[in-house]
Amino acid sequence: MRQAGRYLPEYIEKRKNAGSFLNLCLTPEMAAEITLQPIKRFGFDAAIIFSDILVVPYALGIKLDFHEGKGPILEPVKNLYDIKNLNLNFKKLEPVFESLKITKKELPKDTALIGFAGAPWTVSTYMIEGGTSKQFDKVKSFVFNQEEEFEKMIDILVEATSEYLCAQAESGAEVLQIFDSWAGILGEREFRKLIIEPTKKIIKNVKKRYPEIPIIGFPKGASFYYEEYIAKTGIDAIGSDYTVPLKKMREWQEKIPVQGNLDPSVLTGSRDKILQDTVMILDGLAHGNLIFNLGHGMLPTTPIKNVELLVEIVKGWKK
Ligand code: CP3
Repeated sequence: MRQAGRYLPEYIEKRKNAGSFLNLCLTPEMAAEITLQPIKRFGFDAAIIFSDILVVPYALGIKLDFHEGKGPILEPVKNLYDIKNLNLNFKKLEPVFESLKITKKELPKDTALIGFAGAPWTVSTYMIEGGTSKQFDKVKSFVFNQEEEFEKMIDILVEATSEYLCAQAESGAEVLQIFDSWAGILGEREFRKLIIEPTKKIIKNVKKRYPEIPIIGFPKGASFYYEEYIAKTGIDAIGSDYTVPLKKMREWQEKIPVQGNLDPSVLTGSRDKILQDTVMILDGLAHGNLIFNLGHGMLPTTPIKNVELLVEIVKGWKK
């Protein structure tokens, strides 16, 4: 998840010498090394490739910059003219495929390699707002007042994301994950049209070429819509944010594996709290198919010893 490396001194060190964050993402040797850092330190069961969801708008021709402390800054899409100018330059994504190939060679055989992309809805919020937003007023105004144009942009993102995920599978990703970090800000009609439908299309496109690759969906904050998302998109596993009750996740487990959902803030707290909350998830869900994970990204303030403790608890848990 985003920011995941920032609690690691070895990441901070690399970042200092890399120039820009984008440069880090797009230099395969460095990106592979960063992907491997937490694996070497903690022995996790899976590695997620080091990149960002915003490399797709970048490959579509949008100027992208990451500012220290301010997050990503994009040249905003304002109108139909800008949308028509979006043009996928696949070459710009090639370093990511190269990072996957290098990482795959160096990863222990029993450690899974996860590729990922942002979902069209979440990526479009960054493209229209020009960065992270609090109110989402620009993108919502676009959705409600320029519906056709907006759908055109979503279609472009569906195509680009499908190609991007397929190429990641081709380059060695064994699992793919779709991050819809802002799934929680839409009403019923828009959730269907802008989240369920596009996600379903992407999954169909990828499955046509890579039927054996599992795809995990993470519609953060989807609340009442999680179930429809599970039922209709065709995803193979569901990533749950930390607000989802264990009882719900148990119900979902009857149909598909679940991933989650420890609140990342717990890892900045006491040993007792970490033990209590982690064991609660394991006791509640590890009898079924569970990919133990956090319910969102690791916080930069997370002490390393708490991550070590977490791994110890999860690996030591017995039925
Ligand atoms: O965990 C990892 O390092 C894996 C790679 C990864 C990153 N971003 C690296 C990153 C992944 C899977 C992402 C996904 C991502 N990126 C999402 C979806 C998941 C989520 O967090 O909801 C989103 C919304 C983004 C967009 C993004 N990238 C934002 C909003 C920011 C700024 C974060 C902040 O608070 O400053 C980023 C930057 C980013 N992406 C960093 C990393 C390691 C931090 C860059 C740095 O300063 O070193």
